[in-house]
Amino acid sequence: MSKEPGVRKMFDAIAHRYDLMNRVMTMGQDQRWRKFVVKTAGDPGNGWTLDLATGTGDIAALMCATHPPAKVVGGDFSLNMLKEAKRRFSGQKIVWHACDANCLPFSEDSFSSVTFGYLLRNVDDAGRVLREVHRVLRPGGRVVCLDTTPPARNLLYPFVRLYFRYGIPVLGKLIADDEAAYSYLTGSTMDFYKAEELADLFAASGFTKVGFKKFMFGTIGVHWGEKP
Ligand SMILES: C[S@@+](CC[C@H](N)C(=O)[O-])C[C@H]1O[C@@H](n2cnc3c(N)ncnc32)[C@H](O)[C@@H]1O
Repeated sequence: MSKEPGVRKMFDAIAHRYDLMNRVMTMGQDQRWRKFVVKTAGDPGNGWTLDLATGTGDIAALMCATHPPAKVVGGDFSLNMLKEAKRRFSGQKIVWHACDANCLPFSEDSFSSVTFGYLLRNVDDAGRVLREVHRVLRPGGRVVCLDTTPPARNLLYPFVRLYFRYGIPVLGKLIADDEAAYSYLTGSTMDFYKAEELADLFAASGFTKVGFKKFMFGTIGVHWGEKP
């Protein structure tokens, strides 16, 4: 059974508290990783760039501020998240678009870069989404993906696991009044691809020059690749 209708409902429900929860849960680090995403995506010049699963719009807005000539599209399938994005960045010339990452309403070779934050963990078939992103990227264009990563089993592992298992759901209850949504975050992180496996999936989906960097005690990964 597909988990995606439930994911969409969940983001529609937490949209109004999403940003505050992000800042608290990541101890204010989340914008630093998004800046790294925008930097790694490179300069699209005056071309089109897509921030998929844009949510409340942070990566799209950073892209717009960093590269003013670029034409930025922010796409997401949760209408409430898009509504928040529009409200927060009403002064910016971003094109907000309701769309599903599995089946993008754009022709092939449309974008100079495609970014997405915390998307792949939420879809049924990450390979399918990566192939769809590959289709809409122009040759030489870059994909950059930010997501959580299952923590490595090192000395810090028991503490990181405690934070994911108990800390995040409690914060979710207190801040977003939705413990279940943030327990889902913990579960989907633990079940997600390891960083090395995700890099292999990028390569299997047709991307070259694939690489990744980890942040936050190895629990956050940024992956990138290029369409040849
Ligand atoms: C955790 S939020 C991330 C938002 C934003 N990228 C950020 O950096 O904060 C995940 C977003 O992915 C969107 N999403 C999940 N599956 C999707 C799909 N199949 N197509 C489009 N958007 C999707 C959700 O609606 C949600 O807004």
